[in-house]
Amino acid sequence: MKLGKILLSSILLIGTLSAEDIMQKSMSTMEQGMTKIQKGFLNNNVDLIKEGSMLVKEGNALFSDTKVIKEYLPADKKHMANVAANSSERIALDINVLELNLDNKAYLNAANAYSDMLNACSKCHAIVRKW
Ligand code: HEC
Repeated sequence: MKLGKILLSSILLIGTLSAEDIMQKSMSTMEQGMTKIQKGFLNNNVDLIKEGSMLVKEGNALFSDTKVIKEYLPADKKHMANVAANSSERIALDINVLELNLDNKAYLNAANAYSDMLNACSKCHAIVRKW
């Protein structure tokens, strides 16, 4: 019985730790990506924008599942898990719009997609951080 409890709590702890890693990995990857995209637009460096957009895509994919997102919402915000997950969906769509516009050399539209993406980051953070 005692051993069972210890085992169970270790499993729960490991579960929590790996979930934590996923969030942190996702956020730091997206942060790096957004920084590259911004630098790319400011310096007119399309390759840098593309590199950044790949990173954001990768990071966003790690943190897009509603169940995972819900784990990170404060208790009184858990009912907003769907709204938070919409931000992740919006980022995925914006990345597509950004890449399509880059291919068409429509840089202003691509830059707008970047701004929209940044808003989507803030929308989820506003829920998480009670801004
Ligand atoms: C679906 C929700 C959600 C979205 C979308 C989201 N984040 Fe986060 N972000 C979180 C959570 C949860 C945390 C951790 C709690 C906190 O920092 O308040 C976090 C924290 C962070 C942190 C601090 C990391 C740390 O270890 O403290 C950075 C940087 C970050 N996010 C970047 C981004 C960027 C860039 C985007 C958009 C491209 C983004 N996030 C979109 C939920 C989200």
